[in-house]
Amino acid sequence: MDLFEYQAKELFVKHGVPSSEGRVTDTVEEARAIAEEIGKPVMIKAQVKAGGRGKAGGVKYAATPDDASTHAQNILGLDIKGHITKKILVAEAKDIAEEYYISFLLDRSNRTYLAMCSVEGGMEIEEVAATKPERLAKVPVDAVEGVDLAFARSIAEQGHLPADVLDAAAVTIQKLWEVFVGEDATLVEVNPLVRTPDNEILALDGKVTLDENAAFRHPDHEAFADKDATDPLELKAKENDLNYVKLDGEVGIIGNGAGLVMSTLDVVAYAGENHNGVKPANFLDIGGGASAEIMAAGLDVILGDAQVKSVFVNVFGGITACDAVANGIVKALEILGAEANKPLVVRLDGNKVEEGRKILVGAAHPLITLAQTMDEGADKAAELAAAK
Ligand SMILES: Nc1ncnc2c1ncn2[C@@H]1O[C@H](COP(=O)(O)OP(=O)(O)OP(=O)(O)O)[C@@H](O)[C@H]1O
Ligand SMILES: [Mg+2]
Repeated sequence: MDLFEYQAKELFVKHGVPSSEGRVTDTVEEARAIAEEIGKPVMIKAQVKAGGRGKAGGVKYAATPDDASTHAQNILGLDIKGHITKKILVAEAKDIAEEYYISFLLDRSNRTYLAMCSVEGGMEIEEVAATKPERLAKVPVDAVEGVDLAFARSIAEQGHLPADVLDAAAVTIQKLWEVFVGEDATLVEVNPLVRTPDNEILALDGKVTLDENAAFRHPDHEAFADKDATDPLELKAKENDLNYVKLDGEVGIIGNGAGLVMSTLDVVAYAGENHNGVKPANFLDIGGGASAEIMAAGLDVILGDAQVKSVFVNVFGGITACDAVANGIVKALEILGAEANKPLVVRLDGNKVEEGRKILVGAAHPLITLAQTMDEGADKAAELAAAK
């Protein structure tokens, strides 16, 4: 999960990384109020998950609360590379003597962590890497050893930071490492890390990516989720621990196991070519235990998608046998009642397939059509979707 700058800075504050005082808002009036409260010149900064905000006019200096108000007016709603600015950060404007660059990241290809540091901060780091690679230090970080003060100082030195700021820079860099490890981040990037005229080292920008696989260790990270940007169906699926991705077709798909669901998407897309070009509406893997509750939750999510015209349930019975799955489907339809209103094509195979089919035949539910094979099921589901 990528964080907004203001969220990254919340984590910086938590770990004692020096930054600049500020608050986020979504209104012009409050932007003025925050500027008044800070009582010094401020920066108005667009909060979007895209780089190059400054160049796009999303970062402005405001000497007075009046200026803050004017810039807030211009920046709220600003389109930055397709991201509409909904929030702005009002942060104290600091005097800057020099701008540096520092980041910690996961270096997957070398199976290690990496610190990158450069005296050439403020501008795009890709440009520094391309034009002055010798000015950008890339220092591998041992996951077990981590970064102590001495190592942080050496990172700053390799990045060619001036000798008189190395000690202060080391303190800030070491704390950024603590953010990286303590919050289970895969990226902590500060551009610019600045030196003020009185040699303070401050993180004036912040980009943090959190490792969602570690979310269970960080209940507080949930609050960072950008609910506005998440598809409501994906949100609902997540609440039910379902592995769901919305696509833009018409045939809802439910399967067990990621591999089976992926191949179901292919088969349905292929079948759709003969039926008005209908396509899969989603990826949904209900995993190993296809209980009635999980099936109901899955169907509920898929039927909530107005674009869905038919649903293809493709299950291979393993540890959870087909009879349990069939019972799950029948009970799920009971649970959903009138909300279940789109035709369902069900293909079962594997463990206890005969028992499973018997249960579905016995239920004689008007919405259910049984298919013998995956190809037949895909074709039927596509046909039903096209007919709607
Ligand atoms: N609190 C601040 N005080 C003084 N100057 C600031 C402050 N915040 C940002 N700046 C100045 O604005 C420039 C751009 O800000 P920032 O790095 O946050 O945005 P950006 O680099 O344009 O966006 P991105 O990092 O998303 O590409 C900085 O390099 C710095 O010169
Ligand atoms: Mg920046």
